[in-house]
Formats: sequence, structure tokens, C-alpha cells
Amino acid sequence: LTADNRPDVVWLHNAECTGCSESILRTVEPYIDALILDYISLNYHETIMAAAGHAAEKALWDTVNAGNFVAVIEGGVPTAPAGTANEPGGHGKVGGHTMLSNTTKVIEAASATITYGTCAAYGGVQKAAPNPTGTKGVGELFPGKPVINVPGCPPNPFSLIGTIVMFVSNQNIELDDVGRPAKFYGETVHDNCPRQEFFDNDQFAPSFGSEEARKGWCLRKLGCRGPETYNNCSTVKFNQYNWPVQAGHPCIGCSQPDFWDGADWDGET
Ligand code: SF4
Ligand code: SF4
Ligand code: F3S
Repeated sequence: LTADNRPDVVWLHNAECTGCSESILRTVEPYIDALILDYISLNYHETIMAAAGHAAEKALWDTVNAGNFVAVIEGGVPTAPAGTANEPGGHGKVGGHTMLSNTTKVIEAASATITYGTCAAYGGVQKAAPNPTGTKGVGELFPGKPVINVPGCPPNPFSLIGTIVMFVSNQNIELDDVGRPAKFYGETVHDNCPRQEFFDNDQFAPSFGSEEARKGWCLRKLGCRGPETYNNCSTVKFNQYNWPVQAGHPCIGCSQPDFWDGADWDGET
């Protein structure tokens, strides 16, 4: 990509914690300044754009009305209460309009939609029972729209930038059965975990901070869901430096749909 053919990008924030934006700010290949100045034209992003108020709204809708842009969605979309035909949804408003209304208009006009984070992809923590805001992931909400999911809580920015590069360079993006690019989500966390030799030898750390945990024993008995979780944490790492299991915390399955409620791990190995 060059400065001449940077794709226009609109980044929406819905019901979320902004951890996904925090993760993209820490990208290292390229750094965030190069990403938004040299690789993409980030026309709208509520937390890092210079514009505010009406100028920010104008930047959003000018891009949407021009078409030919990539929508990146962060956060699940609240659908309750029902609202009206012109203004569906109720919880969560930006610029005086509901998140559901804004997201619908943006996705209808976008050339491609990428969800960044498990909230946007599958609803995330906002969708956890009893889900009083009726939050849904983008794919569930717009079943007819092609959506590329880059989940994680947060995801690795490597996966988002790689997906954007594959899209704008017209590469075939093979998706798995929950809409994730196989290139970044084709293996489980467990497949490449450095603690795997201990898993194979039935050596399981008995407690957090134990001598065994520090020596690298497997965290499965402490709740690790790495064998059921598809993500590239163990190979790409965050900031190319560390990731949960290396730091001594079990994988909680954050790139899997409904990981908050779907605690299907039963402690078996
Ligand atoms: Fe925050 Fe996780 Fe949702 Fe990203 S996916 S916005 S990190 S809760
Ligand atoms: Fe697998 Fe988790 Fe054990 Fe690593 S710590 S080997 S991912 S079960
Ligand atoms: Fe998430 Fe597990 Fe990676 S919790 S960050 S998928 S190690």
C-alpha cells in the first residue's frame, strides 16, 4: 500500500470497553502512526480522531455517503428497547442516534465489514446472560452481509492489519465456520503452547504462582481453555513479547463465540 491508494476506513464504537482500540494503538508492524498516515485513511474513530462534534459527524457521513470504504466495528450492538422504524434500538447513542441505527447505515454502505474484538463479532461480555441491552454481534444482526470476524478480547492487532492488507490486495480470505480468517485463527492456542510438553506428561500446575506454574507446567487444571480456542497468541504474542499463558494465566477462550457464558471446559485433559 502507498499513500495514493490508502483505503478509507470508518471505525465504529458500540457497546464495548475500548480495549480493542487500545490494542490497535500498540501495533508494532507497522506502528500506529504509520498505519493511519501511510497505510489506511482512518476517516472516523471516536477515541483518536482530532475532530469532534459536528466535524466528526461530517467526516463519518461524508465517507459513508461516498461509499467504497472499509467498516471496522468495535463493540456489540444493543437492540433493546426496540425503538422506532427510523431509529431502531435504544441503549447506546452516538451523535444523537442509536448504535443500531448508525451501525446499520454504515454496514449497508461499506465495501467490507470487519469486526474487531469478540464484542463486535459475537456480542462478547455485553451479550452475557441476562443481556438486558439485547446486544448482538454483527454477524447475528446482519446475517445477509459478508462479515470478516477478527475476535479476541482484545485481539492481536497483527490479525486486523493482516486482514486489511489481504482485503485491499485482493487476496482470498478463507474463513472458518465462525467467520474468522483461517490464516490467523487456523490453529488452537494449545497447538503452539510452550507448556504443551507438560500437558503431554500430565504435569499440571496445582495453583497460581506455584513453583510448578513458574517452571512452565501446564495450566489446564487451573482453567486453561487453550485446546478449544482458536487464536494465534502463542505464536504472534502481544507486542511481540508476551501472552496470557506465558505470563502464567490460563487462556479463557476469548476468541471463541459466547466465551462468557459458554464455559464448557470440564477440567478434563
Ligand atoms: Fe473490550 Fe474485549 Fe470487547 Fe474488545 S472484545 S471491546 S477488549 S470487552
Ligand atoms: Fe494447552 Fe493451556 Fe496447557 Fe498451554 S497451558 S499446554 S494451552 S492446556
Ligand atoms: Fe484470549 Fe486465550 Fe489468547 S484468553 S488472548 S485467546 S491466550
